[in-house]
Amino acid sequence: MSEKKFEKKILCIGAGYVGGPTMAMIAAKCPQYEVTIVDINPERIAAWQTDDLPIYEPGLLEVVKKARSQNLFFSTEVDKSIKRADIIFVCVNTPTKTYGEGAGKAADLQFWEKTARNIICASESNKIVIEKSTLPVRTAHAMERILNTNDKGLRFDILSNPEFLAEGSAIEDLENPDRVLIGSRETETGIRARDQIVDIYANWVPRDRIITSNLWSSELSKLVANAFLAQRISSINSISALCEKTEANVGEVAKAIGTDSRIGNRFLNASVGFGGSCFKKDILNLVYICESYGLSEVARYWESVVEINDYQEKRFVKNMIRLMFNTVSGKNIALFGFAFKANTGDTRESPAIYVARHLLNERANLVITDPKALTNAKEDLQEALPDLRFTEDPYEAADRAHAIAVLTEWDVYKNLDYEKIFMSMEKPAFIFDGRNILDHEKLFNIGFNVTSIGKPLMKHF
Ligand code: NAD
Ligand code: UGA
Repeated sequence: MSEKKFEKKILCIGAGYVGGPTMAMIAAKCPQYEVTIVDINPERIAAWQTDDLPIYEPGLLEVVKKARSQNLFFSTEVDKSIKRADIIFVCVNTPTKTYGEGAGKAADLQFWEKTARNIICASESNKIVIEKSTLPVRTAHAMERILNTNDKGLRFDILSNPEFLAEGSAIEDLENPDRVLIGSRETETGIRARDQIVDIYANWVPRDRIITSNLWSSELSKLVANAFLAQRISSINSISALCEKTEANVGEVAKAIGTDSRIGNRFLNASVGFGGSCFKKDILNLVYICESYGLSEVARYWESVVEINDYQEKRFVKNMIRLMFNTVSGKNIALFGFAFKANTGDTRESPAIYVARHLLNERANLVITDPKALTNAKEDLQEALPDLRFTEDPYEAADRAHAIAVLTEWDVYKNLDYEKIFMSMEKPAFIFDGRNILDHEKLFNIGFNVTSIGKPLMKHF
């Protein structure tokens, strides 16, 4: 570690999709601070020190390279790094609990609590501890109780600074955020701690975009932001089902309503369903919290957002099977895209996992292609590996296929030579566009039977 004198020593616990990019951005924007990221996963830490980073994110490598070994360091020495730090961001994972009370809905706080206990054991001075992981509202209260009942006479100020970046655009989102939210106790020491964090972000974020609030509003706002975003997708996806029955076109409906400035035009792309590590888990967490406060109507309301998403994934596969003469057994199907969205290699909760498993169950032969997500896809479908083929080349994937299903909106799929692809496929050739990104008219004219989301079916027989 460098011996250079830094103004502040910042530590981040958890070197994942959030910890890595956010801290790299802070380090790149604030050369006066030392930023260290620690993780219990030594492979992850080793990869952050190479040019083959553990996550794919456009522009990330450039930002990491700018700061790495200057003021950005990666380490597995958690205790030693805690001891040195003035400010600690906690960015560990908070997945859905899979066991015991609240299984399937509540957040699993074991990694978070282990971190809190690590902090207390290793600390020898007062520190500011910031929740950056997404957590149930009032978690900071538990954090305060664990940290501030220490017998070392140390004081810990707990803040909430939830992260709003989206994968695939993380660097843009961090560089130019809509807002940064910092929640604190409204006491003198709470406000003093909060101002230190405001000062970090003010190195590059305009002050009027740095919002402060009380701790509970900040924690809850993160869950609510994800719930509202996911709700928009479920809303338009529910309408896509109605469009398919009525010959309305969901793209036209989205445009017509999105031009109303009160509604806005973003997040209205109908799709095979939303994926990603957070929407489902955060909504289910919100549902669980509402249930535990006896707010069952509120819980049911938000739960329906997840239910519509499950319905949309199921509907997509059912349509595929129905249109392919009610059987896909022994048929070759090329899945175009496996990542949960474009520009990431992340496949957590990707609708492609559900679609692939269901088609495998129906005994289809699957070929999976994706520019960045094949390693993760292999892990997700480990149980079926001998029956699967993987290739980065979409032309190879489509060769002798009966159908193509577009599951991720990668730009590369928009501009392929579909005439060439059509020639290489079994006939009748089907294309199921789960992201509505292709030129359907053109594909139909080439000879494909085209099924999209929320648009009239285009078939040749
Ligand atoms: P992740 O799984 O990619 O990374 C978490 C890391 O924490 C892992 O590398 C894990 O090894 C490490 N870790 C766990 N326990 C540890 C411990 N005791 N000490 C040191 N390291 C430990 O998760 P992520 O996607 O970065 O998400 C982290 C949090 O941020 C979650 O609460 C998530 O809801 C939230 N969030 C994620 C995103 C996103 O785009 N992925 C966006 C906003 C918020
Ligand atoms: C989302 C939020 O956008 C971030 O603000 C938040 O920080 C993050 O979750 C988190 O807490 O983890 P992310 O999941 O990375 O970010 O990506 P999104 O762009 O929100 O997309 C989520 C899913 O919705 C993807 O599967 C995407 O394809 C799908 N989607 C998105 C649609 O189906 N239609 C749309 O119009 C938009």
